[in-house]
Amino acid sequence: MERLHGRHIVLGITGSIAAYKAPLLLRELLQQGAKVRVVMSPSARQFVTEATLAAFAPVVAEVFPAGLPGSWHVEWARWAEAMLIAPCSATTLSKLAVGLCDTAPTLVARSLPRTVPLVVAPAMDTELWEQPVLQRSVAQLQEEGVWVLPPALGELASGAVGIGRLPEVESILSAVEGALTTGVLLPQRRRLWSGRRVLVTAGPTREPVDAVRYLSNASSGRMGYALAEAFRDRGAAVVLVAGPTMLPEPPGMKLCRVETAEQMYEAVQGHSAEADVVVAAAAVADYTPAEPVAGKVRRGVDEWFLRLRPTPDILAHLGQQRRPGQALVGFALEVQAEWSSARQKLAAKGVDLLVLNSLHWGRSGFGGEENTVALLFPDGRLRMLPPRSKRVCAEWIVNAVEEIIGVTDGTE
Ligand code: CTP
Repeated sequence: MERLHGRHIVLGITGSIAAYKAPLLLRELLQQGAKVRVVMSPSARQFVTEATLAAFAPVVAEVFPAGLPGSWHVEWARWAEAMLIAPCSATTLSKLAVGLCDTAPTLVARSLPRTVPLVVAPAMDTELWEQPVLQRSVAQLQEEGVWVLPPALGELASGAVGIGRLPEVESILSAVEGALTTGVLLPQRRRLWSGRRVLVTAGPTREPVDAVRYLSNASSGRMGYALAEAFRDRGAAVVLVAGPTMLPEPPGMKLCRVETAEQMYEAVQGHSAEADVVVAAAAVADYTPAEPVAGKVRRGVDEWFLRLRPTPDILAHLGQQRRPGQALVGFALEVQAEWSSARQKLAAKGVDLLVLNSLHWGRSGFGGEENTVALLFPDGRLRMLPPRSKRVCAEWIVNAVEEIIGVTDGTE
């Protein structure tokens, strides 16, 4: 299913070199089913032409566009279900923070009804990004409920390597889905998450058989990554411990890459004591070859027996070690008797919330873009959720965690 089917999005493009990526972002929004209108700042036109974008969507590049009434920005802002400014230049970010409306993107952004979320994806050189004056603007926008997607680490237009890159299209889409699901980030909610530490595990593990072969599973890591992004966007400090995945590195969090279940266990042990919330979304191998072969096993023998030994049950250890006030969330992938197995797992692992996937539910589980999950609480409550993209599921799971740690702000 298209992730943004029928959703109205105003895309703002401003004068960062990363604006050359904007047509690809626009195409992806359209391919995901969104209806898009584009607003450009004068500086954006230095990097990408209006004609390129106009081939795909209506474009306004001036505050007083020819042929439109003076109040066009009010109509566009009311039409929007979310506005995304990507890339957002240092200038536009500063203008937004003080309420200046002298370009088409700032004018529409400041005309949005209070309930319509604004997502900005800043992209600029590290020096600019780290200026205290700019960081004050970021903090102010966040305080207002704006979704500020942190820029990524990598090679910048100047040739330097640092923080400031426009995140990958996938990360931007994920933030837009988050904003469409959860809406404007209320200041109370951000304040409640700020200073809280969240540890998330994601992806499969790889257990070596010999130097070139391994045992693994089909987990893509998408669910865990989406959760890590959802916690980050609410203001938590996130550590993501991930097995091998093809996903782009999510900006604005600490990523620890691991391969084996043993390494995942060690990495989790290194971060769990200080975590306020731990979410075990990884599909950890339960068994690993007992004697992995150092070289490559060659063809020749008729049969090859692998002896396996159990791996550490990371979540069960966390359940035993947890400190008062720490919330623990587990996942369960079940193939039969899902409800009773899930209830047993919830108790056995000592978690506060169990997210259940069943192989019998459509669009559920490993690999795909979507998931169907049920949330089980220790007091017997059960919440069955409809099939949605993994980021939408992640927003709902984070809402449930807010209930558990008592940070619900009463708006849901
Ligand atoms: N898990 C873990 N460490 C393991 C195995 C699983 O931390 N070695 C975690 C998973 O991340 C998930 C939960 O335990 O949050 C349940 O995983 P699942 O594979 O459904 O259950 P298992 O405990 O492995 O039990 P079984 O395979 O028998 O269903």
